[in-house]
Order: sequence, then structure tokens, then C-alpha cells
Amino acid sequence: MRNIILIGFMGCGKSTIGKKLSGRLELPVYDTDELIERNTGCRIAELFATKGEEAFRAMETDLLAELCEQKGRCIYATGGGVPLREENRQLLRQLGTVVWLRISPETAYQRLKNDTKRPILQGENPKEKIQELIVSREGAYTACADIIVDVDHKGREAIVEEILAAIEREAADETVGD
Ligand code: S3P
Repeated sequence: MRNIILIGFMGCGKSTIGKKLSGRLELPVYDTDELIERNTGCRIAELFATKGEEAFRAMETDLLAELCEQKGRCIYATGGGVPLREENRQLLRQLGTVVWLRISPETAYQRLKNDTKRPILQGENPKEKIQELIVSREGAYTACADIIVDVDHKGREAIVEEILAAIEREAADETVGD
């Protein structure tokens, strides 16, 4: 069985669902934002402010490359911008089964409208920004997703069940293909 990687837009529930999956599958879970914060000793917002977005994106790429060297199966919850670089999409595919938690702009806005931690959303019109980013990122998420789960109007348990069922189907297909 392969690692499970959760991708998707901010607010789609990667960290929460990652923890739930970790409990169900008895596997460790790691969050790429948290790993970067731990490695640098800085909050993401601080990294954006002091080093800029490009430097942060390079840290994401370096981290993914490191994770690809790790042994043992685990779950990764990734920052929403990780799939933007082609290089990262390749690393994600190499790392394991990629699950895209797809969220609509409306639901994302409802969940993120009072957010203060995500630097990208601190501008004038977060609603428009969310809409624009989700549309522009769709291609990147689609390009590396093995499994797509829509999260709007679904409870956490239902999402976890859907992921587990899809992963089992994938694993069965892989066995047939061997
Ligand atoms: C970002 C998403 C954030 C974090 C950073 C940039 C993005 O992670 O990596 O603020 O570009 O979508 P979450 O998706 O966990 O909020």
C-alpha cells in the first residue's frame, strides 16, 4: 500500500481529514505546512512576509523531494498551493496516491471568510480571490489527482469513508494490473 496525499484548496479539510484517516488506518499523518514551520522555526505568514511566496514554494519543493526518500507508509496533508509547480506534481505522484478534496468557491469562502492565518487571503476582496484561485488551480489539481472527492455538504465521516473506499478500489485495480 502506498502513502496517501491529500491535496486541495485552502479550507477543504486536508488537515482534519488527514487526522481522521490516520486514526482509521493507524498511520502517522504529517502536514507540509507544519513541517515547513518546524524546519524554519517560522509561521507560514511570517515566511511569506519576510522571504516571499517564491521562497516558500521552493521550500515546498525541497520538502516533497525529502519526503519521497522516506520509508514507511503515511498520510500527508499538503498546503493548497503545492500542486502548482509541475515539479511538485511529479513529486506528489511519486510520493503516493493523491486524493484531491475538491471544494466549491462558495463553500471555501464560507469557511475562510474570517481567516487571518493565510497570507494569500488577507487582501481586499477574499471572495473574488478565492473564486479566481480555485478556477486557476483546477488544472493543477486535476493533473495530479488519482482520486477526487467532493467535500461540499458532506460530513467528515462520509468524506473519510469515500476516500477509504476509493483507495481500496485503487489497490484492487493495481493488483489486477500486476
Ligand atoms: C496556500 C495554502 C496554505 C499555505 C499557504 C499557501 C495556498 O495551506 O500553504 O498559506 O497557496 O493555497 P492550506 O491549504 O493548508 O491552508
